[in-house]
Amino acid sequence: MNQPAESPVLALPDMQHQWLPFTPNREFKADPQLFARAKDQFYFDLAGRPVLDAGSGLFTTPAGHCRDEIAEAVHRQLQELDFTPGFLRAHPKSFELARRIAGLLPEGLDRVFFVNSGSEAVDTAMKMCLAYHRARGEAGRTVFVSRERAYHGVNFGGVALSGMVNNRRAFGGTVHGVSHMRATWQEATRFQIGQPDQGAELADDLIAAIRVHGAENIAACVVEPIAGSTGVLVPPRGYLERLRDICTAHGILLVFDEVICGFGRTGEAFAAQSFGVTPDLITMAKAITNGAVPMAAVAAARFIHDTVMEAAPEGAIEFFHGYTWSAHPVACAAALASLDLYERDGLFARARALSPVFLEAVASLRDLPLVTDIRGYGMIAGIDLASDGKPGRRGQLLQKKLYDNGLHLKTTGDCAILAPQFIFSEAHIARMTEILRSTIASLA
Ligand SMILES: Cc1ncc(COP(=O)(O)O)c(C=O)c1O
Repeated sequence: MNQPAESPVLALPDMQHQWLPFTPNREFKADPQLFARAKDQFYFDLAGRPVLDAGSGLFTTPAGHCRDEIAEAVHRQLQELDFTPGFLRAHPKSFELARRIAGLLPEGLDRVFFVNSGSEAVDTAMKMCLAYHRARGEAGRTVFVSRERAYHGVNFGGVALSGMVNNRRAFGGTVHGVSHMRATWQEATRFQIGQPDQGAELADDLIAAIRVHGAENIAACVVEPIAGSTGVLVPPRGYLERLRDICTAHGILLVFDEVICGFGRTGEAFAAQSFGVTPDLITMAKAITNGAVPMAAVAAARFIHDTVMEAAPEGAIEFFHGYTWSAHPVACAAALASLDLYERDGLFARARALSPVFLEAVASLRDLPLVTDIRGYGMIAGIDLASDGKPGRRGQLLQKKLYDNGLHLKTTGDCAILAPQFIFSEAHIARMTEILRSTIASLA
């Protein structure tokens, strides 16, 4: 199972000082679930027990854990150039990385701005939209249209765009001017794997938003091509195309948040390519470094970049935005090594080839009495479980039991979200399915 030879049993650390993110802290500390090591398809707990990683970490690590190629690139980089300020200074690897990413993107989207998390990417994309419209003399375009059940990170812009109530309840009211379209989940298409065959007309909610706000006030429509964190809502056939047409007709920018989809999850480099729809901006994060170092980016269409550049006086800073860690040399080294790995091992093609096996395996769980819906596309799938009366409680129990039974994945509410690594074999898929089946059955 590829466990590193030297793997001592580790003691439980003193956990009182850390405040954990998106975690029931008190419950976790009473019954902690820690990973001490990882290699390829497996995590290992403190006792060295393997846990199969069917979540690619957190959608971050499709090439498998602790890849030597990335570790060596990071090590070399730390000895060569550990940090460069990103403002008025730069280093060659970030330009090389931007060029490599531009080569993976749909044609025309080839200007790349580096940030450090998906949340930062979303807020950066929002600012780019505002900056673009302002540069064109349309500073009144400040409204954003997003969707119910969307997840766009935790910074204020992204929370305002998001459509998951627990994330918004306390913090969602501070940024105004966001209109939410309906989510694309439909009762009628339950258990359809791949793109649902009905629901394209849900895109007309964007027209409804135009009727309410006036197109001249709308900056952008922001969607995840596949809404990931909410439970894998695959876009109905024709839906993204329709959003694209409406945006184009009304001068509204279309932003795809590909923080989960990007880097092969849908079988192509980006979901924009899988679905054949080109947005004006794409956010990306997670798998950009195979999860090894925090990094994210926004790709903008060249016309957006050029408009912002040309509107600023000669010699002026064109875009007043950036982070201390933007294009950190170590992150760039990790990202370049990851892209090399993806390319050398043909991992996006491998994701595409493995997808039918994965989706069929997940679909085979539909006979379980607790399972109320299954959706999936490429190498991501969601399994809804019936609530036990308190939303989220069954999902949390599933999460715990899966850990005990040797499987890692993310749950949101009562939905299990599977996003296996692209280096899974059919045997790993079979093992994943077996553990899921017995664990879900045990909850009934
Ligand atoms: C679509 C999408 N956007 C943004 C984010 C936020 O990314 P981060 O957690 O890196 O800030 C996520 C995280 O899962 C995401 O799925």
